[in-house]
This record gives sequence, structure tokens and C-alpha cells, in this order.
Amino acid sequence: MITAAPGTVEVEGGGETMEVGAERVLILDFGSQYSQLIARRIRELKVYCELVPGTISVEEVRRQHPRGLVLSGGPASVYDADAIRPDPEIYSLGVPILGICYGMQLLAHDLGGRVRPAAKREYGLAAVVVDREEGIFSGLPQEMPVWMSHGDVIEELPPGYRVMAHTLNSPVAAMSGPGGSVGIQFHLEVAHTPQGSEMLRNFLYRTCGCEGNWEASSFVEQAVAEIRRKVGGERVICALSGGVDSAVAATLVHRAIGDQLTCVFVDNGLLRRGEADRVIDVLTRSMRMRIVRVEGAERFVGALAGVVDPEEKRRIVGREFISAFEEETIRMGDVPFLAQGTLYPDVIESTSADTFGARKIKTHHNVGGLPQSMTFSLVEPLRYLFKDEVRRVGRALGLPDDLVMRQPFPGPGLSIRIIGEVTKERLETVRSADWVVIDEIKRSGLYGKVWQSFAILTPISSVGVMGDYRTYANVVAVRIVTSDDGMTADWARVPYDVLADISRRIVNEVPGVNRVVYDISSKPPSTIEWE
Ligand code: XMP
Repeated sequence: MITAAPGTVEVEGGGETMEVGAERVLILDFGSQYSQLIARRIRELKVYCELVPGTISVEEVRRQHPRGLVLSGGPASVYDADAIRPDPEIYSLGVPILGICYGMQLLAHDLGGRVRPAAKREYGLAAVVVDREEGIFSGLPQEMPVWMSHGDVIEELPPGYRVMAHTLNSPVAAMSGPGGSVGIQFHLEVAHTPQGSEMLRNFLYRTCGCEGNWEASSFVEQAVAEIRRKVGGERVICALSGGVDSAVAATLVHRAIGDQLTCVFVDNGLLRRGEADRVIDVLTRSMRMRIVRVEGAERFVGALAGVVDPEEKRRIVGREFISAFEEETIRMGDVPFLAQGTLYPDVIESTSADTFGARKIKTHHNVGGLPQSMTFSLVEPLRYLFKDEVRRVGRALGLPDDLVMRQPFPGPGLSIRIIGEVTKERLETVRSADWVVIDEIKRSGLYGKVWQSFAILTPISSVGVMGDYRTYANVVAVRIVTSDDGMTADWARVPYDVLADISRRIVNEVPGVNRVVYDISSKPPSTIEWE
């Protein structure tokens, strides 16, 4: 990922719905913290789905021909004056609806039942007892743990509905009605509801009749056709960062339009050892892409001289990237399209429920901060994918595993892994230490199992003894974390022997280092990077 200054340019036209075959489910978002998780769970079951605002119009829903609708949870109560509500006509579409928590209360309230505040808020694990083993409960045990988080309960079912399950505190923990619609009071999308995926599978496959045709290979075919349609005979530019997302996006665009695509790789001198060469080698030799390599090490390291503040480092790297990229595009002449590897979580984050419908997407940090004079139409073929799906698409496109499974690496690169001033010498020190960490983590088979593993060059010098000599040299910290998405993380319980090998090799192989420490902080309260 390329990091630049915060976005200032608004680009229209990135938000059209992607055609992905007949089978799709829409999740109407009412502001639950779990909405994105529902999308991930449905995709894991190989059904294509999209998160749309809860207020989506019935015409728009009709246009998309969904096989099913999911009404998400949300913080509101159906009786709040400002509660977000769906278009009432969605209930008459004849499409099965799954209402989760607030979504269930909407179903009950809007279809003529009654909802009231519970005597006491139900939060946490509960045992759900199934009264009717059918629909979403088909083939499941009669009693199961589920995760509850609600303040309202259903007092009276809407006409035509019946109770499917109850808990100690909720007489209506699940209800079903005409046309396969079902409401559940608990959250099936969270890990605390172990049978949640099975329930969702039942809804998608049994009730909605989905077949599960959401595969990386079918995505590739459709995305290629879509890119051709959008770009026509025009030229496209794509900035490669060395990471998975931009490499997969570029490969997809290249598959669609061949040499109409030019990639720009700005080597900022802040990358890991051999990284620039490896990416360029794979994409030019096996994929035959046209890549312009801009040698920027002198420029970036020069601009960072004397800077110690982490945010200032980020700004400088962003600014220098933009200048280098701009110079290159001017040289290339008229290029109307910019391809980038924006992922679905970025799209969801940068598009609030209110602006969702308008589909006017702000360029976020990927290329945010491009000057007003540089206006591009965006080509974002990965904008509906999650990270694990991008990796599968990368594999389907024939990219090698070491590129596709690469750990995330921050845009400002090694500059934020040197605490204090960035110099060529200190860059070489942290790069060599990083190489050892990655090498040992790969050798021990842990590379794909941890989220990130790397070295930090601290500003501390410590006393040591090597041979008969006293040394006074740098302390390197090693950070290895597990995480699902980088938002929270834990330090990895790596076997002591692996840590011992890393430490021994760093001290022996990296000049100027005599001590290695292991970072045992989780996020929060620490962050993954030190700067
Ligand atoms: P933190 O340090 O905030 O990192 O816990 C979370 C994830 O984000 C990456 N990271 C960055 N990525 N530009 C990026 O492209 C940045 O400025 C940046 N800072 C942190 C970090 O490597 C981790 O995966």
C-alpha cells in the first residue's frame, strides 16, 4: 500500500455495482459494529454479497436481483424517532429476509408485531433452545450457545410468524414467517455463536436457493470484462508498492487490457532487502507487464535527513511519492485512468451510511493527496474484496505464493522502523536485521501464521562483550504479532528456540548490533509499528 497525505481529491465513478453473476445477497446496514463481519461470513460461504445502506430504495434492491436480504443489527431502538428504517416495500419483494437483532425487531415492528424495551439488557452468551428444527436450524442441535446483545424484545409476533427458538430471557429468540423470512435476536456472525455459520449456510443455501458460485476464477473473468468495458482503448497507470493489493490489481488490469497499462514502481530506498527487484522481476518476466522503475532512494533519504518525528516522516514519504509519481505521469502524456488496489474494508470505512447511496467515493490514503491538476478516473477492481479473497484472486491469476502471501508492509517502509533519524547506515542496519527475522520466521514455518514479523532499530546503545572486547552498540527490537486485520494484535508466542536463532544471527550478522530484545506488548495499548 502506498501512503500519502490525507485525501483531497474526490473522484466520481468508482462505485458502480459489479456484475458478478446471478447470485448475490444484500446486507442492509443499520449501523451494527458487526455488519462487515456478516459480509465476510457470507463470502466465506461462497456467496457474493454487498453491504448497502439500510435506507436503500426498493427500486435499487430490485435492480440488483438479490437472492436474499439481511437486515443487520444496529444501535437504535425501532421506537426511536431517528431510527434508520428500510424502505417498507422491501417486505413485499418476495425475497427471503434474515433480520439480525435490530433487523429482527424491524421485521416484527414493520410487519405488525410489537417490540418493547426488555426489563434488563441481555448481553453475552446465552443458551438458545430450538423449538422448531427447520429453516436456519435444520440439522443443528436442540440447544446451542449464542451471543446476545440487545435491549428490546418482541412482545407480539407479526401475523403469520411463529416462534422458532427461545432463551431464558427471550421468549422469542428466533421467529420465522412467510416466504422464508426469519428473525433472530442473537448475532450469528460472531465467533461466540459457534453454529452461526451453519445457520447462515442454511439461510443462504436452503432458504434463498444459493449455489455458492463466488469463486476467485469466476471473479477474474467478470472483473476482466468489466475493466475492458470501462477503459475501452484508453491508457491506465498503476502505482506498484511491492505489496499484494497493488500487484494483484495491476495483474488483473493487465490481463484485461495488456500494454495499455503502465505500472510505476517508485523505489524509495525504504524497502526490505531484495523486495523491489523481486516484485519487478515477477511482474515483468512472468506477467510481461510494462513497468517504469523510478530510482528514488537518494531523494527520499535526503528529504528525511534530520527528521525524527514519525508523522513528519510519513508526510515526507507521501509528498516525495506524489512528486515522483507526478513527474512520471507528465512524462507519459495523456493517461485518463488510475488503477489502485483499494479493498472493500477501505471502501466501507470511507463511505458512511449517509453517503453510501450517493456513491461518491473519496480517494483515501492510497493515493490521497494527489494534486487537483491530476484528475483520474479510478479503476479499482478489488474494491469489493476482502484481503483473503485478494490473495485467492492473486493465486488464480498465477502470481507466486511468496508475493501473494506477503505480510503487510507500511507505506513509509523502514523509515518508521528506525526510531530517530533515518540515515543510509541505519537503514542498512535495520534492513539486515529484518532480513534475518523474515528468514528465520520462514524457516520455522511461521511466516504465514503470523500477521507481521520484523525488526526495529531502537535509539538505544548498550554495553556488550564480543570476544575479549567491550562493545557499545545498537539494540534491535524484534516484533512478531498475530492479528486478523491489524486493528488489534497480540505478540506472537514464538518458540524460544526460534527467538534464540533470530537473536544469535542478528548479533553475528548485523554489524553494529550487540543486543536483541523481544517486544511483548499487545495492541491496544501499544501499536504494531513503533512509530
Ligand atoms: P499500527 O502501527 O497502527 O499498524 O498498529 C497497523 C497496521 O498498519 C500498518 N501501518 C501503515 N501502513 N502506512 C501504511 O501503509 C502507514 O503509515 C502505516 N502505519 C502503520 C502496520 O504495518 C500494520 O500492519
